[in-house]
Amino acid sequence: MYHTCELGDGMKRKKTVQLIMGSTRAGRICPLVTEWIATIGRNHTDFAYEIVDLADWPLPMDDEPGIPALGHYSQPHTRAWSEKVKLSDAVIFVTPQYNWGYPAVLKNAIDHLYAEWRDKPTVIVTYGGHGGGKCAEQLRQVAGAVKMRVVETMPGIRLPEAVIRQGAPFDPHTDFAEHVASIQDALNEMAGHVNAANAH
Ligand SMILES: Cc1cc2nc3c(=O)[nH]c(=O)nc-3n(C[C@H](O)[C@H](O)[C@H](O)COP(=O)(O)O)c2cc1C
Repeated sequence: MYHTCELGDGMKRKKTVQLIMGSTRAGRICPLVTEWIATIGRNHTDFAYEIVDLADWPLPMDDEPGIPALGHYSQPHTRAWSEKVKLSDAVIFVTPQYNWGYPAVLKNAIDHLYAEWRDKPTVIVTYGGHGGGKCAEQLRQVAGAVKMRVVETMPGIRLPEAVIRQGAPFDPHTDFAEHVASIQDALNEMAGHVNAANAH
């Protein structure tokens, strides 16, 4: 009940959580990790989960003359990206750590907009050899700058050396099982923010 909202004809629609993938790299593992997190979400909450692949949202770095905070977008792809993000009731960033930061494509996607992110309940899930804590901290700061409501729990998935170095196959359902509890904790915090927004 809390996770739905009224449609005009009295029907309910589920609140939508967008999982935004931080990696567009060739050979990336991000889709596998993100699908697994979406499955945890669908089993644990009553939200609709939609995966957003930034590879499907090519946003040039240099074609918007205005400051996004003013909200005057000149390019159709920026306006489309704005409409897309507006459709979400919450966001989960699923991102690898690259050289202690997060991928440029994710920063660019965030920086294209401004007001659309405001007050959005947000979960940050990172992965890397040590869980990606350094990039999680950077992303948390940037999300704070655009006034997202980032939940306290930031799950950090530790990748086995063989996955990073040799591209060894893995199954998140078994190999990342130890991280399920922290992901569920983060989803609970996110649901709390969504429900609080719903109550107003
Ligand atoms: C450019 C680049 C930089 C990386 N830097 C780090 C790093 O700082 N820390 C870490 O734990 N892993 C690092 N890695 C390893 C990634 O965690 C690993 O390759 C992971 O699979 C990347 O996610 P993706 O396959 O979804 O792109 C790096 C990988 C790349 C491609």
